[in-house]
Amino acid sequence: MKAVILVGGEGTRLRPLTWKRPKAIVPILNQPFLEYLIDYLKGHGIEEIILAMGYLPDPIQECLGDGTKLGVRLHYVVEDTPLGTSGAVKNVEAYLDESFLVFNGDIITSIDLTKMIKQHQESKSVVSIALTPVDNPTIYGVIETDEHGRVTRFVEKPGWDEVTTNMINAGIYILEHEVLARIQAAKPSMFEHDIFPSLLIDGQPIMGYSSESYWIDIGTPEKYLKVHQDLLRKKGGQFVKVDSTSHIDMQAKVEGPVIVGQNCVISGDVSIKGPAVIGAGCRLDSGAVIEGAVLWDQIHVGKGARLVDCVVATGGRIHDDCLIPSGCVLGDNVELEPGYMMSEGTKVEPDTTLG
Ligand code: GDD
Ligand code: MG
Repeated sequence: MKAVILVGGEGTRLRPLTWKRPKAIVPILNQPFLEYLIDYLKGHGIEEIILAMGYLPDPIQECLGDGTKLGVRLHYVVEDTPLGTSGAVKNVEAYLDESFLVFNGDIITSIDLTKMIKQHQESKSVVSIALTPVDNPTIYGVIETDEHGRVTRFVEKPGWDEVTTNMINAGIYILEHEVLARIQAAKPSMFEHDIFPSLLIDGQPIMGYSSESYWIDIGTPEKYLKVHQDLLRKKGGQFVKVDSTSHIDMQAKVEGPVIVGQNCVISGDVSIKGPAVIGAGCRLDSGAVIEGAVLWDQIHVGKGARLVDCVVATGGRIHDDCLIPSGCVLGDNVELEPGYMMSEGTKVEPDTTLG
């Protein structure tokens, strides 16, 4: 089965991390998000993938190439103007022949796709939609089903007074090819608002595939950080993975789960307390403390600086004795002058100097 991944969104809610790169390739455990997703799809037998792109397509293509290094075949299609979720799939119709999978390009999950595909084939429905329980359904598409799992109603981003279930659209669909005939070419449309509700009105069978497996969308910086903490915690406190090109001083204290990328230099007296990720080419000077943080590449953390439960994008220069507390998110190339203390939850635009 082929898969279409929707990666055309601007990732507005993930700013400031998405000013300089699309959501699709923000790093997850030091690996571009799409690589992570493609590995998962490949694990369920998907070997040909079409990327429906819009915002910042070039970095995605440069990052993944033709897919050979990931063991899949990739095709890229770029929209001139955003076509919406279903318009984007119509736009890649030339690559599709039989039933296919559609994936929102901002989800990390361990939902059993193989089982979902099997259920879809047995149910003879035209669409199957993965459903997952969440605490706050109002920021998702709520989906009601009957006692046989058949979808009866969609409410996209409902108010609390409209919430009748905590099961939401997980952003994973299996579609029969015939559904493409219902989508207008070169015109923006959404599965969630247009195509799925119209199928229901016409009495076409849509099945839910409910799953309790891990599912999260990386749509906001808070969730981006949570994904890291969840994935690392699953690996356990003993997990410490340091690239062989990196040097950690014997006096540094590293408590897992921690991942350290290539070419890092970590001085004595540094303390890294997991769950934490250090990207490639980072330098941590003596007395620096990293706790629950995600650092992208080429970041310099000066002596005695303290970074807690935060995200720092590529090129950050955090000088001596600075504090980056919980919930802070720094875009690319942010500089903090010596001794600068940030307040909790501050978001900083790229290329900013604070001091
Ligand atoms: N190619 C293309 N073109 N992709 C698009 C476009 C477009 O015009 N618009 C959005 N996308 C992609 C985004 O990049 C993202 O991967 C996916 O489609 C969904 O868009 P989001 O903007 O992330 O939607 P959402 O998170 O508010 O809601 C959707 O996902 C939820 C699950 O995470 C809906 O499908 C909800 O019903 C669902 O619950
Ligand atoms: Mg989303």
